[in-house]
Amino acid sequence: MAPGPLAQVLRQLPKVEDKNLITADIPFADAGVYRISESCALVQSVDFFTPIVNDPTIYGQIAAANALSDIYAMGGRPITALNLIGFPKCLGQEVLVAILTGGAEKVHEAGAVIVGGHTVDDDEPKYGLSVTGLVDPAKLITTAGAKPGDRLLLTKPLGTGILATALKGGVLTEGEMSEAIDGMMTLNRVASETMQAVGVHACTDITGFGLLGHTLELAQASGVGIVLHAESLPVYPQVFEMAAMGLIPEGGYNNRKHYLPGVTNRDSLKAAVLDILTDPQTSGGLLISVAADKEETIKQQLTSGGCSAWSIGHVTADHPEKIRID
Ligand code: CO
Repeated sequence: MAPGPLAQVLRQLPKVEDKNLITADIPFADAGVYRISESCALVQSVDFFTPIVNDPTIYGQIAAANALSDIYAMGGRPITALNLIGFPKCLGQEVLVAILTGGAEKVHEAGAVIVGGHTVDDDEPKYGLSVTGLVDPAKLITTAGAKPGDRLLLTKPLGTGILATALKGGVLTEGEMSEAIDGMMTLNRVASETMQAVGVHACTDITGFGLLGHTLELAQASGVGIVLHAESLPVYPQVFEMAAMGLIPEGGYNNRKHYLPGVTNRDSLKAAVLDILTDPQTSGGLLISVAADKEETIKQQLTSGGCSAWSIGHVTADHPEKIRID
């Protein structure tokens, strides 16, 4: 759902109160975190969506990497997963086998196990997983905790929503967007383990609300302002070309409407920058808020672990809970 209507619905629900629900007081937490002992908490999340590419195995891999991502964003270690499947009667069984095989491969790569699942007849295929992980509550990383002076790192380029729209429209082939497909299939595992090892202040993963939405959530949860450098934003090949052709997903317009009021200099943004900032991501990277004196260390460790890292901005005490785009 679009962020506006979703927030409206959530506001009408009773507040959950449980002394073990650690995330009860953390706005925009990526996953629910529930303490089961002094040193151990469950981290739980769920995500599923319609096919984003034509190849069913790759679709399964991307859906699983995406579902696992919220656990990684909080510094958790995934342990079990459940498949969620909507599948049309008219499609061949081999397609479903391919989707589930792709998902299983990624869950295995994450060191977790699929323990079951549920299927429903559906007009359009849908696939995703409910994932459970573990974390030491003392080591939990959340959207709250970013401090003025922190540097912001992003671990994957942007633009998957625009490219997926171009693929659906027949303007691009899967081969022409292979870099983005590889990116979406990549687990945020190395990024997560590295930030745990180095020690960071806050993190979230970039998914449906786009870089702008998730950055704004981090700013609000942490009570800080954020400055993003437009020139430093990493973008997959062809994204600007496709965006210039108007291949913007509906979610991009929803994000624009909902999150643009949170940008202090919204009236002076270039159209291309706005397209990138608000593009809904599938299986996007981690946005990490780290103390300035640890920036080089974490970048080195990410890179040597095979994970990219771009410095895209910093945290400020100015304009709390708002973003400025430089
Ligand atoms: Co998330």
